[in-house]
Amino acid sequence: MNKLTIEPSGGGVGAFVSGIDLNGKISADDISSVRNALGDHGVLFLRNQKISSEQHIAFAEQFAEININRFFTPVADYPKIAEVRKEPDQKKNIGGGWHTDHSYDTDPAIGSILLALETPPTGGDTIFASMYSAYETLSDGLKETLSRLRATHSSRHVFGPDAPRFKEKDNDIGDRLRNADTATQDAVHPMIIRHPISGRKALFVNPGFTVGIEGWAEKESKALLEMLYEHAKQPEHLYRFQWAPGSIAFWDNRATWHHAVNDYHGERRLMHRVTLRGEALAA
Ligand SMILES: [Fe+2]
Repeated sequence: MNKLTIEPSGGGVGAFVSGIDLNGKISADDISSVRNALGDHGVLFLRNQKISSEQHIAFAEQFAEININRFFTPVADYPKIAEVRKEPDQKKNIGGGWHTDHSYDTDPAIGSILLALETPPTGGDTIFASMYSAYETLSDGLKETLSRLRATHSSRHVFGPDAPRFKEKDNDIGDRLRNADTATQDAVHPMIIRHPISGRKALFVNPGFTVGIEGWAEKESKALLEMLYEHAKQPEHLYRFQWAPGSIAFWDNRATWHHAVNDYHGERRLMHRVTLRGEALAA
């Protein structure tokens, strides 16, 4: 039997996992190692996993219950799997900006296990950023200030009926997103969280869903958040993952951001995403 190996990506975030076959039975020890590696590295990459939807769901359920994203259209016959798809004639992609999934929920999802089924010949990479190193490379003074602050996160401006994207002329998201009328709730989280698996501190604000700092005026919030975003997306915190059919990225929303690069117009890209239910986050 192959031995589970976890090798850091060499970039600012993530690790490659080998010696695991999701077609077969995975030992409790290996599941525990994968969970700890997720907490340590923020995102795990696996190659050549040609698995069924049942196997995808079964693997995910060994970590947590599945969170069914209310905005993503599911795969036919598999309500637990969200479809992430871009057709050759579509211009807009899903996830094409820096964000952390589900920070708009009071109990943000742990993360997602995204499986590539069809990938363009070139392009369509996903870039990940470490919110551990983003935090750790701030000054002690700013860390101290941020440790007392909380931020508000929302889905309204991204998935709600008034989201700017629905007013854009070239919007062709179409049936890939749904339930705009359920984008109603906001969530408040500490700006610095203690990661539930690793116990390390991480920056927990993101350009996609964070809308302001609690108790601060809009322009004050905007200035500090913009500075943090510029800092967090510096190259030393990043790793760019290239997909192929059978590739998996298993990321932790509490330790990373991601950005789906939209550079493959005219080609089809099809991924299946299973998302794990999370918990409230504490400083
Ligand atoms: Fe995402």
